[in-house]
Amino acid sequence: MRVLVVGSGGREHALCWSLAASPLLTRLWCAPGNPGTATCAENVPIAAADIAALVGFARENAVDLVVPGPEAPLVTGLADALAGAGVRCCGPGAAAARLEGSKSFAKEVADAAGIPTALWERFEDAGEALAFVRRRGAPIVVKADGLAGGKGVVVAASTEAAEAAVADFMQARRLGAAGAAVVIEECLAGDEVSLFALCDGTDALLLGAARDHKRLGDGDTGPNTGGMGAVSPPPGLPPEFPEAAMAGIIRPALAELARRGTPFRGVLFAGLMLTADGPKLLEFNVRFGDPECQVLLLRLKSDLLAALLAACDGELGDFDLRWREEAAVGVVLAARGYPGAAAQGGVIAGLPQAAEIPGAYVFHAGTEVQDGRIVAAGGRVLTVCALGGDTAAARDSAYRAIAAIDWPDAIFRRDIGA
Ligand code: AMP
Ligand code: GLY
Repeated sequence: MRVLVVGSGGREHALCWSLAASPLLTRLWCAPGNPGTATCAENVPIAAADIAALVGFARENAVDLVVPGPEAPLVTGLADALAGAGVRCCGPGAAAARLEGSKSFAKEVADAAGIPTALWERFEDAGEALAFVRRRGAPIVVKADGLAGGKGVVVAASTEAAEAAVADFMQARRLGAAGAAVVIEECLAGDEVSLFALCDGTDALLLGAARDHKRLGDGDTGPNTGGMGAVSPPPGLPPEFPEAAMAGIIRPALAELARRGTPFRGVLFAGLMLTADGPKLLEFNVRFGDPECQVLLLRLKSDLLAALLAACDGELGDFDLRWREEAAVGVVLAARGYPGAAAQGGVIAGLPQAAEIPGAYVFHAGTEVQDGRIVAAGGRVLTVCALGGDTAAARDSAYRAIAAIDWPDAIFRRDIGA
């Protein structure tokens, strides 16, 4: 099998690392990749957004399977373009990728499928949105309807904050067209958990649950980020929860999309709030999370490539995956300044020493090679992960690996998995 992974983050490094172990693999590329993917795949200088070039590369190189990491190319039709060229893609076509590309589409599907979710309403008119906010009061949640790279949600504690979010999205257009319409919804309270399923259009296979830590600072303080760390399985989650969520959330969504004639293939990621009334859907994503992917794949014992192929071929019905009993913890090392302007170019030493800590793995994201040295070249720069007998052991190894890394610009949370 000749496989092309699309993307350049820690998620894509983990995907390449896992796929590289498959006995089915003959050749592996990553577009555009990073210095980490370069250790287990051949990097190809094509941007993840360049659909025409990705399809051209796949054709010219007889690629059997494309594995997209990020959502943006899926929302703009990468899987459809590949299908047109006769290349398998383990990701949804644009119609099903609207689950992530449009918050209101996801809410409509949830309502039609009977999936519990926060009460919501969609607005295209800022005046109506503001009137709704004033009528409902706080706390309330304002979401840009379109794709916003994690910057389109405001959980407003006051009416004023919600009004400011409406003005920011709809009038100032801070997110461009993504904020032309908003979804305003009921604010839910509880612990969050992310659930991942591999889907073949009809059947779904559990990939596991993880807890992400989106805030920059310890104790969930500070600004939102793309994710500063992840733990799988989430401590305290009842063992029967994942299968119950498959039955109540993932499979109904798949059935509804199939009924609409736009079946979902690929990784479906449900962000859930564990409320006093049971789990409720916060959002769907149409891909692995980053850094959740890193900790999930560390726990996978089965061949990832065989599973992704089965998903593409509609054969998950009698497929089974085996998982390690160990827990996995992943801590993101970001560059000082993130999520704002991050310090670039700092030399990162000690990576071989970190990888020697038993159970530890270092996945690259925003790194670059300069004069033979690894330097910081992004916001989220590394995900330092470890497996352990339990969460505490995994956490201990991950932080010991971090201690071995010499990079003065690193910022990271000290409470992942605590
Ligand atoms: P989303 O991108 O929709 O997952 O939203 C990002 C984050 O906002 C989630 O991870 C939650 O922490 C929070 N959030 C989203 N929707 C709600 C809601 N209805 N109630 C409370 N928090 C929410
Ligand atoms: N870590 C959250 C995400 O990938 O969306």
